[in-house]
Amino acid sequence: MRNSASLSLAVIALAAVTAISPAPALAQVAQTPPMGWNSWNYFAGRVTDKDIRDSADQIVASGMKDAGYIYVNIDDTWEGKRDADGVMHTNDKFPDMKALADYVHSKGLKIGIYSGPGNKTCGGYAASLGHEEQDAKLYAEWGIDYLKYDECSFTGDVLEKQAPGDKAAQMRLMVAAYSKMGKALQATGRPIVFSLCQYGWDAVWEWAPAIGGNLWRTTGDIYPGWDRIYSIVSQQSGLESYAGPGHWNDPDMLEVGNGKLSLAENRSHFSWWALLAAPLLAGNDLPHMKPEINAILTNRDVIAIDQDSLGKQGRHAYSDGEVEVWVRNLKGGALAIGVFNVGSDRYSTHPFHLDLAKLGLHGPQAGKDLWGGKPVTLTNKEPIELGSHDVFLVRVDAPK
Ligand code: GLA
Repeated sequence: MRNSASLSLAVIALAAVTAISPAPALAQVAQTPPMGWNSWNYFAGRVTDKDIRDSADQIVASGMKDAGYIYVNIDDTWEGKRDADGVMHTNDKFPDMKALADYVHSKGLKIGIYSGPGNKTCGGYAASLGHEEQDAKLYAEWGIDYLKYDECSFTGDVLEKQAPGDKAAQMRLMVAAYSKMGKALQATGRPIVFSLCQYGWDAVWEWAPAIGGNLWRTTGDIYPGWDRIYSIVSQQSGLESYAGPGHWNDPDMLEVGNGKLSLAENRSHFSWWALLAAPLLAGNDLPHMKPEINAILTNRDVIAIDQDSLGKQGRHAYSDGEVEVWVRNLKGGALAIGVFNVGSDRYSTHPFHLDLAKLGLHGPQAGKDLWGGKPVTLTNKEPIELGSHDVFLVRVDAPK
């Protein structure tokens, strides 16, 4: 992976694009990190029209819609073939995309779709290369509200063909390809969230907002395992300053409720995403969701951290052994504090002691334990016992 292209490359590539394009005005969408659901993490290539309808129904029935989950996003494998005029068609799993969009809209929800800048999607289906304007128009006609645009075959189709071995030229091509779709979406006049998925290459956070990107993946794919989630979290430090209303770092979609994640791991995963101001796109099997998973996904206090209108992404404050402390500044001077036990042992015989001074706090702090749902007063150096991979998440409204 070419995860750390230099600042100078980013600036050169951006200058090349901005010289010909004023900053697009898709800023009215995604003023807080997008919330919704995406088909990939659970259904992958099996997803059908019925799964999308059932998921939309369940978002409403489960209380997720009321909690803020609005986008119902179809990921890869909806695509059929282009006709003689180049118009894209759906495959048999999705008989009528307009009717599906109407259905999702009838529930008061929004609908998202997926394509990419290469010839093929990651699943090998037709993508948008050479058909960007045509596809954007089609999405708008269907009533699409969100596009995830995934790099996939663009490396082989374009970068390696047009600029073999030339990283700077490849980066310019990358920026231009995403910019092209950003402009095409903008030209439709429909507010469509533009989600860049190219795995955090080419310092995407430096140029995505200027080409109309509302969020951009910062890493490769997530999967429902603690090690992967922790590895992704560990790659977010240093990106805080790039996030803000209308443009967000995307550490990938949620795995809450998937695989063998423990409840503690699900809580930690969700807490981190909230502290990181990450998009909250659930990726689980909604019709068969357990109540305890529903409770995690709809914890209003934790969602309020994620959706805080100041839009300031949180950061890792300090570590002590295998305990990490993260903080996020919130509107009105409030502070969210997350204490994570990332080790595999319970800290009980040697409990962790929260050092408030390291967070710039002095004296006892009145707050709310967001997973316990109770008021709490934090005192300096107080011992905190945490199970393996569990989290203590506190909101302090008036830190001192
Ligand atoms: C890539 C993306 C995933 C998903 C798949 C679909 O791997 O990163 O999130 O969209 O493609 O094929």
